[in-house]
Amino acid sequence: MAEPIEVSESVSLDRETVDGVDVALVIVNNPPVNALSWHVRQGLFEAMTQATDSGAQAIVVVCEGRTFIAGADISEFGGGAPNAASLQDVQSAMEDAPVPVIAAIHGTALGGGLEVALCAHYRVSVASAKFGLPEVNLGLLPGAGGTQRLPRLVGVPKALEMMTTGRHIGSAEAREGGLVDDVVEGDTDALRGAALAFAAKAVNDAMPRVRVRDRNELVEAHKGDERIFADFRKSIARKTRGFLAPEYNIQCIEAAANQPFEEGLKTEGKLFMELMTGPQSAAQRYYFFAERAANKIPDIPKDTPLIDVKHVGVLGAGTMGGGIAMNFANVGIPVTIVERDQASLDKGLAVVRKNYERSRSTTAEQVEERMGLITGSTSKQDFADCDMVIEAVFEDMDLKKSIFKELDEICKPGALLASNTSALDVNEIAAVTSRPESVIGMHFFSPANVMKLLENVRGDKSSDTVVATTMAIGKKIGKVSTMVGVCPGFVGNRMLFMRGAEAERMLLEGATPAQVDKVLFDFGFPMGPFSMSDLAGLDIGWKEEQSSSSTIREVLCENGRRGQKNGMGYYTYDPETRAATPDAEVEQLIKNFAIGKGIEQREVSDQEVLERCLYPMINEGAKILEEKIAIRGSDIDVVWVNGYGWPVYRGGPMHWADSVGLAEIASKIEEYSASLGGKHWDLSPLLKSLAESGGQLQTYTS
Ligand code: 3HC
Ligand code: NAI
Repeated sequence: MAEPIEVSESVSLDRETVDGVDVALVIVNNPPVNALSWHVRQGLFEAMTQATDSGAQAIVVVCEGRTFIAGADISEFGGGAPNAASLQDVQSAMEDAPVPVIAAIHGTALGGGLEVALCAHYRVSVASAKFGLPEVNLGLLPGAGGTQRLPRLVGVPKALEMMTTGRHIGSAEAREGGLVDDVVEGDTDALRGAALAFAAKAVNDAMPRVRVRDRNELVEAHKGDERIFADFRKSIARKTRGFLAPEYNIQCIEAAANQPFEEGLKTEGKLFMELMTGPQSAAQRYYFFAERAANKIPDIPKDTPLIDVKHVGVLGAGTMGGGIAMNFANVGIPVTIVERDQASLDKGLAVVRKNYERSRSTTAEQVEERMGLITGSTSKQDFADCDMVIEAVFEDMDLKKSIFKELDEICKPGALLASNTSALDVNEIAAVTSRPESVIGMHFFSPANVMKLLENVRGDKSSDTVVATTMAIGKKIGKVSTMVGVCPGFVGNRMLFMRGAEAERMLLEGATPAQVDKVLFDFGFPMGPFSMSDLAGLDIGWKEEQSSSSTIREVLCENGRRGQKNGMGYYTYDPETRAATPDAEVEQLIKNFAIGKGIEQREVSDQEVLERCLYPMINEGAKILEEKIAIRGSDIDVVWVNGYGWPVYRGGPMHWADSVGLAEIASKIEEYSASLGGKHWDLSPLLKSLAESGGQLQTYTS
């Protein structure tokens, strides 16, 4: 058999005769995900022409490696790629080919990849394949006809759902929805065989060359149907607040329903360009790569041996411990969870069960399966066989030290010992053991079974294996992991403290909790600091007998205000709806407190609120980089987007600071430092020098 011909550096052309039919195989090979880089587009375009010019009777487009084309090459979006065939050129060559074109799909056909497949006349996939238009997650919409073709195949309601969430659907759902024509059990060889056979059949049976663009029934069914779009907008409004892309995706589907195909394409093109050149997509594209960069720890070799984690121990079944245990059970890893007494254990396990039962994505059978993987105990001796143990007891250094001493005695050599502390010194904890190299921080966020962020904390002595295993296990349980160094509060809480301190200070000067919260809510956070405190409980860490009216929080607690849990905190809560209302009593308590401190109240502008909440965080972020606590500026953004609800369409605090301008921020920080004082306003030397040199925080590597 002749060797395949190389058409470009990533596309080759092969030939097979099947059932008497001469089929050309156009093969894409652009690792890791077969993105549509310029040479892929050029290769696909030339291969289509060469195949038909040389008399092939059918064409199969297939990919090497782990996946079908997973989308446009996002790294080319800023420009800089050589001139090559456009995606539209490739698509026209396929759609208008004089012979049947079949896309053979495995892995993930995403974004531009699915848009290419939608220009084949037929699609065949393996059962494990996934399909999606996830552009919305990059602040975009499918810009290569996907907004017009997808609804023509799967209908308007499903297209709305898929394009505004970016959800990937499986082969079965795709087959049912009309997106694929045949699903094959088996591997990529079976797929190739099935696609070739499909191609031969298409020729032998003279099957029509179906152009998706011509299939108008499903979209015409919603022509003039304003209701479906209005209802859909309403249904996603809360989730998509602040984001432009979901709305633009909807407008494109509206165009598919109301305009002829070519007009719809023009609408898509116009809206795509608006998003592509706007700040939201720039931030979301930046963030896509930030999250992936965070996985890379420069001084840890790729081939570092990992601990094989087959059994996990969790100490403490409280708010965090139960959720942490669920993460492991969810991926089939058995967990032993130890509490100090049977009552606390029963209580903790009951919460875990309730959480599973409440989750709509878990079937009754799965609940039992997962609960079956979690074994409760009141003896730490049961950790003896565990490959890793995560401690999640109260935030108390003496307690943690005594526990790590015990774990050191009980756990087998080489077991990874992690603490879920949210602010304490991991080195100090490690030092009480005979094996500080095995100790690390794994800072989960609450609720630990839901929140994506895992802020891992590397001790001075944590071994390469322990660091690498922590990152790998994070990936396995579906977390977004970062690795940071030891300092009080690590990256996230350390920056949060700065915001909290300044927010409270502004209350004394005359801002109200509702004003501060609204400014941050409007910026894009799910809630402001005072709503967050009410939710967490104002009395966390508060002790009545030691309370001395020294902060507003203490004053509120002393006045019986504990937060949402008793219906009164910074706000008053409706017992039925939990709706928050500002409370005149709170404002009076704050006023009196300010008078007692000799602080004159004034009107604080919203702009001042925003600057005083966010600029100290930026300053602290720069200090964190100076001290090498974070590896990269972008890691800080990953922490804030996943752990604290920083709106991803603003990239994260470091990206946002760069977009505002570091010189502007540095000069404002100096002004506030002079007028307000406080260590957190001392300008970071790194921020100062980047501001002077025109550098960036988001690309800074420490
Ligand atoms: N462009 C460029 N690089 C990409 C890429 C893309 N579309 N998709 C993934 N990569 C890179 C990643 O940056 C990573 O690089 P690294 O190893 O140097 O860090 C590598 O490929 C592997 O990616 P993951 O670590 O994410 O691998 P996974 O196996 O976990 O996931 C995936 C694979 C599901 C394909 C995931 O990478 C993904 O979701 N990619 C993005 C898909 C997407 O958004 N496609 C739409 C693009 S926009 C578009 O097509 C516009 C069009 O409408 C015109
Ligand atoms: P919690 O009070 O809800 O749970 C702690 C549990 O530990 C209790 O059930 C308690 O009975 C158990 N415990 C205490 N001493 C024990 C011992 N000697 N042996 C066995 N069990 C013992 O506390 P929470 O909120 O779960 O916090 C745990 C840790 O997680 C703390 O270090 C905290 O800082 C950290 N953390 C908490 C977050 C939160 O939002 N609650 C977020 C991130 C980290």
